[in-house]
Amino acid sequence: MTCVVIVGTQWGDEGKGKVVDYFAGKADIVVRFSGGNNAGHTVVVKGKKYAFHLMPCGAVRGKQLIIGNGVVVDPKVLLEEIELLKKDGITPKLSISERAHVIFPYHGTLDELEEQFKGKMKAGTTKRGIGPCYEDKAGRFGLRMCDIVNKEMLKEKIEHLFKLKEKQIQVYGGKFDFTKEQLIEEYTAYGAKLKSCVGDVNLSLNKAIDEGKKVLFEGTQGTMLDIDHGIYPVGTSCNVIAGAACTGAGVGPTKIDTVVGLAKAYVSRVGEGPLPTELLDETGEYIRKKGAEFGTTTGRPRRVGWLDMPALKYACRVNGINWLAITKLDVLAGLEKVKICTAYTIDKKVLEDIPSSCELLSRCKPVYKEMKGWKGFAEGQAEGVAKNGFDELPKELKDYVAEVSKLSNTSPCLISIGPGREETIILKDVFGK
Ligand code: IMP
Repeated sequence: MTCVVIVGTQWGDEGKGKVVDYFAGKADIVVRFSGGNNAGHTVVVKGKKYAFHLMPCGAVRGKQLIIGNGVVVDPKVLLEEIELLKKDGITPKLSISERAHVIFPYHGTLDELEEQFKGKMKAGTTKRGIGPCYEDKAGRFGLRMCDIVNKEMLKEKIEHLFKLKEKQIQVYGGKFDFTKEQLIEEYTAYGAKLKSCVGDVNLSLNKAIDEGKKVLFEGTQGTMLDIDHGIYPVGTSCNVIAGAACTGAGVGPTKIDTVVGLAKAYVSRVGEGPLPTELLDETGEYIRKKGAEFGTTTGRPRRVGWLDMPALKYACRVNGINWLAITKLDVLAGLEKVKICTAYTIDKKVLEDIPSSCELLSRCKPVYKEMKGWKGFAEGQAEGVAKNGFDELPKELKDYVAEVSKLSNTSPCLISIGPGREETIILKDVFGK
């Protein structure tokens, strides 16, 4: 196996940072292919925490890193992440696609204004300008990395676009509080700093794949936030499913060998929209606190709920998932009972599949299967327990994993029982034969 894609099966925040870092140990190259700095991927190594928004998580392992054309790059954020890593003694081996689109300050302003305008139809975005940047990409108003590393090109394009952006912001009643000279100066400086990393990465990536290098494609957000396959219109503004690894990195589908779906032992959501299994009681509070369910990017408290099987089965289907990585099982430890939503009911009818309409989903009531919790799994034990392997886990936890596997018809390759690298049990080496 050479090319492995990791995707979120839920609403994001399934623990991508940790799992990508884990599998990156075996990879030669780690590629980001979608999203921007709306993502927040956390890696914990020997108690030290790294929070990445744009940098592929393989950075901590010193791997070759690629930001593909499908990513929208805020160069200011990227340069800050490079500096932070350098302070920790890590110089990232980073290449950025010259085709990747660039986030400008007017995208952030428009993100805020569009959300205000949408009112109760808003998605609760991260306000990082992600949506407006993808809008410009589709509208062919965007500037790409190849434009900001070329001062003349940048100047010409900003001169041309400035009036339009000013007008768009005014339509929403907003204020344009930067000049075109400021934009040209600021982005010329970013371009100069990043120039040595920018190029036609798709060429070198495909060559590396043909040479048998192991490549890990690091997904962002989660299937339920995908622009086509997620809960429209309360998701993100790009494709995040496994297929996006091909379009977002310029790699053909015949090159992808394995797709790993990340499923947290429960679900969480930041932002608006229906979440059928949402827990608004003290169990929800317990899970949020114990699982530190507060946004890495915005710090917002995440809404939490029981594992949603119609959503997980759907994610397995649209991503073509071969293996599951089940994370944060330790967070549910201590609960007397745990639940899995196996179906929904709507107007007295049972629904096995997640509906595509946001309105219908908001009327869905979960049908639960209740299971015994794994009370005997004390905090601080995880590393020791992980060393002993899957068989040594509490019976109730193993039963829960078996049930998830049975209902989703997908076997687990990785079990995570704590935030650190050591708190992991591998059941299948996805880069192996
Ligand atoms: P945007 O991607 O900032 O436009 O936000 C659109 C929706 O996706 C909002 O509900 C966000 O809270 C959510 N979202 C975006 N990125 C992430 C993520 O990395 N994890 C979880 N939710 C996200």
